[in-house]
Amino acid sequence: MPQAAAKVLILLVPITANFAALTALLQPQDRLMGLGLPDGGHLTHGYYTAKKKMTASSIYFQSLPYGLEPATQLINYEALRSQAKIYKPRLIICGASAYPRDWDYKTLRAIADENGAYLMADIAHISGLVAAGEQANPFEYCDVVTTTTHKTLRGPRADLIFFKRTGDNAKDLEKRINDAVFPACQGGPHNNTIAGIATALLQACQPTWKAYAQQVIANARTLGSELVSRGYKLQTSGTDNHLVLWDLRPLGLTGSKLEKLCDLVGITINKNAVSGDASAQVPGGIRLGTSALTSRDMLEADMKVVADFLHRAVQLALVLQKEAGSKLLKEFVRIATIQEEGKQGAKQVLELRKEVREFPRRWPSPGVDVSTLTMPEGFLDE
Ligand SMILES: *Cc1c(COP(=O)(O)O)cnc(C)c1O
Ligand SMILES: *[C@@H]1O[C@H](CO)[C@@H](O)[C@H](O)[C@H]1NC(C)=O
Repeated sequence: MPQAAAKVLILLVPITANFAALTALLQPQDRLMGLGLPDGGHLTHGYYTAKKKMTASSIYFQSLPYGLEPATQLINYEALRSQAKIYKPRLIICGASAYPRDWDYKTLRAIADENGAYLMADIAHISGLVAAGEQANPFEYCDVVTTTTHKTLRGPRADLIFFKRTGDNAKDLEKRINDAVFPACQGGPHNNTIAGIATALLQACQPTWKAYAQQVIANARTLGSELVSRGYKLQTSGTDNHLVLWDLRPLGLTGSKLEKLCDLVGITINKNAVSGDASAQVPGGIRLGTSALTSRDMLEADMKVVADFLHRAVQLALVLQKEAGSKLLKEFVRIATIQEEGKQGAKQVLELRKEVREFPRRWPSPGVDVSTLTMPEGFLDE
């Protein structure tokens, strides 16, 4: 993000940056708009349900979600414009936890200006790609940009807040953000985390970072197209960033079940709501990301192997669901972990786990000489 450094100040904030930013920009009960959680938004962007205000962002502020266009599953900017015209938010938040395409910050800026609203981008997921110049640059258009440092930026678990020091909206922004971080929301800093963030930012400034980010995206595209070629459905049919959002609903499988099964075989994925889900509590899909595998030097050809593992995991989940004879997650886990007469699923879980455990040993791991690692006796068979 060096090109933005002159115009914005970066605060190293190992706490909940979004709440500090809302505290700086808004008065209690002011209105904000963020992408709805079931459409890929984050909890901290104002999420609430019919029964409950779920997060501080909806408890202390009023919020209205905007969403995706059902036909394309892309942000519906025109609907957002109409909603904002009526709702008159003080703040529009863009950015997502599960959105595989890029953002139109220019249009968002125009909508914010039409309503005298601040524009904040939460680029938590994509900040490593933004730093590489491989996603649109939000700094040109946004008053505030927040990010976590532990996703594609590949740093420790922490946050950053950037804010504009120039322009009409920025007069007292610096003081308000500073005061919101300390004393409003945070005590003393964690110096160890700050050192970790600085190390991550130094890595992101190296010439090799751009190639890394490009490879992350190329790998995600390949992983996505490999899944599509095996007959699976992705939200927006593909990706332009590090993330693949896999819609499992056509298979009659929930994200929770596939997540459990993948845990059992040693693949870390994340259940996730997909657009159109009735409830975020029963997510209809999963999220996949390629940044960690790319840090292990994996390339497009390796994504085919990964897609095969995932394909086998899904097919196995369908077998287990049938053998469980019930929709209950508890019963699914029981049948996946207990060897029973005449049932194939649990045996296949162990077979797949063995292959998955063997697979990553071929690749280097940053900071670790993998050739010196030894497997505990019987690890692959256990
Ligand atoms: C991950 C994420 C955050 C922060 O969540 P953590 O639980 O602290 O990792 C904030 N905003 C967005 C959009 C995110 O994806
Ligand atoms: C963190 O670093 C600052 C600046 O050097 C120092 O004043 C402070 O005492 C340190 N805090 C801790 C807990 O070490």
